[in-house]
Amino acid sequence: MEHPTKNANESNGAGDVGIMDRLRVATAKQHDDAENHEFQQAFFAGRLTRDQYVRYLEELHRVYSCLENQIRSASAQRPELTQVVIEENFREGDLVDDLEFFGAKPGSHAPTPSTETFVSHVEVLARTNPIALLGMHYVLEGSNNGSKFISRNIRRAYDLTDRGVRTLDPYGGDQRQKWLDYKLRMGELDLSPDESDAIVEAAKYMFTALGRVSSDLMPEKLQNVGT
Ligand code: HEM
Repeated sequence: MEHPTKNANESNGAGDVGIMDRLRVATAKQHDDAENHEFQQAFFAGRLTRDQYVRYLEELHRVYSCLENQIRSASAQRPELTQVVIEENFREGDLVDDLEFFGAKPGSHAPTPSTETFVSHVEVLARTNPIALLGMHYVLEGSNNGSKFISRNIRRAYDLTDRGVRTLDPYGGDQRQKWLDYKLRMGELDLSPDESDAIVEAAKYMFTALGRVSSDLMPEKLQNVGT
């Protein structure tokens, strides 16, 4: 799929380039790689079995709930976190609802190795440089843009209407506006160059981490983990 980041020039972060532009440009190649990941391709096409889809939701539940909990706690020191990530952006409730719809519960499988590594990294970052959690969250919130398309195929593949697909399409017809609002809130932050760099680094890490989690969930790997 043609992506808006194509043809953009990478910035070194200097000057008055806003944080959202920096994030989009710095992670453009990783986004393309994410789209082309074998697991994401199968997911996009609705070729995962229903069980594989539910297993993916379970893993996403761990990823989202870990990051969201750390964002909530760390906002005591860095209120900017919940100035950007507002209540409507928290997805744990949707994940629990989607899982419940399928008769599944969060935590019923052990996490995959890459999810465990991710969770440890988030905990460290929350202690050492909490503002960087915004870079990780940018990746999750931004992914709603693509998930909205994917949700059509998922609805068709598993015969869903609303429940079971809330995480992928949380805002319905408001997706575009919610993304613009999020970008605006992030863009209004007064960040030092070091903070901006840390946010961009964390976003890059997040793309890598989610790619690894997707690899863990490839059917042949799943035979070895998390049952
Ligand atoms: C087959 C899989 C995917 C497709 C088809 C897809 C498609 C898209 C599209 C069309 C947009 C642009 C929306 C717009 O600005 O109008 C977008 C944005 C974005 N996607 Fe994806 N995506 C996919 C997978 C992913 C994955 C796996 C991630 C995260 C790991 C991700 C993260 C993002 C982010 C962060 C943005 C926002 C970019 C920005 O800053 O503007 N996407 N995606």
